[in-house]
Amino acid sequence: MKELMIKPEIYHFDKVREFAEEFQIGEGDLMVTNEYIYKPFFGDLDLKCDVIFQEKYGQGEPSDDMVEAMYKDIKGLHKRVIAVGGGTVIDISKLFALKDVSPVLDLYDGKIPPVKDKELVLVPTTCGTGSEVTNIAILALNSRGTKKGLAVDEMYGDSAVLVPELLESLPFGVFATSSIDALVHAVESSLSPKGNQTTRMFGYKAIDMILNGYKEIAAHGPEARKPLLPQFLMASNYAGIAFGNAGCAAVHAMSYPLGATYHVPHGESNYAMFTGVMKNYMEIRTDGEIATLNRFIADILGCSTENVYEELEKLLNHLIQKKPLHEYGMREEEIEEFTDSVIENQQRLLANNFVPLDRERMIKIYRELY
Ligand SMILES: [Fe+2]
Repeated sequence: MKELMIKPEIYHFDKVREFAEEFQIGEGDLMVTNEYIYKPFFGDLDLKCDVIFQEKYGQGEPSDDMVEAMYKDIKGLHKRVIAVGGGTVIDISKLFALKDVSPVLDLYDGKIPPVKDKELVLVPTTCGTGSEVTNIAILALNSRGTKKGLAVDEMYGDSAVLVPELLESLPFGVFATSSIDALVHAVESSLSPKGNQTTRMFGYKAIDMILNGYKEIAAHGPEARKPLLPQFLMASNYAGIAFGNAGCAAVHAMSYPLGATYHVPHGESNYAMFTGVMKNYMEIRTDGEIATLNRFIADILGCSTENVYEELEKLLNHLIQKKPLHEYGMREEEIEEFTDSVIENQQRLLANNFVPLDRERMIKIYRELY
């Protein structure tokens, strides 16, 4: 049984300039990024690479339409794809390292075999996705009203590059949703039946770093995050290593229809589902890894295991306020529709649930959170 896979070489640079010099970014490179990142951080470096700005092809989370439109605009031959951005930029760039990308629906349905023909360098500018170390690209499939993940080894980066300087201009809201996403990665992968001692070492360490960081922020306000950004970036990377091996589960699966239908940021839709799923796990089973996890989190929060998720919610509400699902626009009849969509489209994730959740149980979870 495989214990751990970390495919990319992981690099750490304090400054963007050091990264650009070490990697000799130039001709033959395609940089996929955002203008608000490129201009301040790379604008003065006089790089000779081609650059494409993702936001010109739509706002928000990556979709099949966005990939098609960008792919059409990419001209010339490249030997290397360098992604500098959040989850959207990184996930899309994984596809661009492949030989054939379009029609992207065919790629996601397995009708086009994934063949990698470019080197791939992944540089996260948020502290959440962990996507720089995973082989997964999640797209909203607009025609189908849900999200789908494609996970193939051809989409591993060759290099994952951590540059804390890039996080310095991250607005607090994006910091909050992305780091909560990382927390959920760490929790779901630690509870996953595919998890093992090694993946949980990364998962639990990430939980520790993130929650202790949140305690600082709760005590001293949003600005307290600034000196902690390197810690959050590393935690997100650890959580990525954990879930890249052990997988995410029901929180992600059940947040996808909400995120795709109502354009809720990924970390926020995860948070909307998070504690509801955990409480339902515990209604089914209270021993095993969840007991270890609850003890671990309770020790960090300084509370008892009985009310660990209430206390966790109190802490997370310093980052973003948890909202009932109807406040995102969700309608009551969608409780069953979303459940059926999850069952149909998210088996890849549901296989990693701490305990199996059947249709009735998922309806109950949505209803409780509605
Ligand atoms: Fe996630």
